Amino acid sequence: MKCWSIILAAGSGSRLAPAAGGKKKQFIEWKGAPLFWHSAVVLSRVARMQGVVFVFPEEDLEFAREQLASLDKFRCLGMPWFAVAGGKRRQDSVYNGIAALPRECQTVLVHDAARPFMTPALVNRLLDALKDGAQGVIPAIAVTDTIKVVDDGIVTGTPERATLRAVQTPQGFIRSVLQQAHETCRAEDWQVTDDASVLEQAGIPVAIVEGEPANIKITHPEDLSMLESQTNTAPA
Ligand code: CTP
Ligand code: MG
Repeated sequence: MKCWSIILAAGSGSRLAPAAGGKKKQFIEWKGAPLFWHSAVVLSRVARMQGVVFVFPEEDLEFAREQLASLDKFRCLGMPWFAVAGGKRRQDSVYNGIAALPRECQTVLVHDAARPFMTPALVNRLLDALKDGAQGVIPAIAVTDTIKVVDDGIVTGTPERATLRAVQTPQGFIRSVLQQAHETCRAEDWQVTDDASVLEQAGIPVAIVEGEPANIKITHPEDLSMLESQTNTAPA
């Protein structure tokens, strides 16, 4: 099954920007390259991965394309890539990314550029699950904190912890299933924060594989220290 990835780098990074001199987090330099580059390098190490669609803010698209071309020239990604403009919400950026996938693409991974620490082993677990028949599959880890439901500052419930998982990206899908579900999402104006939710709302089962504790999303200023301490990713 021909697999492509969509790397989402079209956010504004508003929670982190004050600590990054106003820079959007996906453009922060780490090990000599912007964050958005690092996940692409991990994906390129997986033999079954055919190519990447990057999604950038419209106002940065031209600059990001030039940056990618120069990185590719000197560090050689080893697979084809496209770069397209994203949208206002994350789900709009995914929609634009799906529209740019080549016809040959049969399975797709959707990944946040703000998660640079994933490994090829995780990517392979996801692709194996799709090969074995999953329509959608996501990395999940058991939660260690007790999670509360809160309404207007008051605790209203405590979900059974054993049933809860924290989920990550990349999230893997059969391309046609994801595409159709996102069409419905747009038509029905669903509000979602990940792509598994789009399948869930469409009534399509989503499987899980074991996630990676180190695969955090750089979100808040304190997460920047992870970039300094992380050593388990090979140079990009
Ligand atoms: N993203 C995107 N398009 C959007 C919003 C988010 O491509 N309209 C991407 C981000 O670039 C990021 C990923 O989705 O890689 C996860 O989103 P998040 O961590 O929320 O990033 P931002 O929305 O950029 O940050 P913030 O919410 O703090 O503004
Ligand atoms: Mg956001």
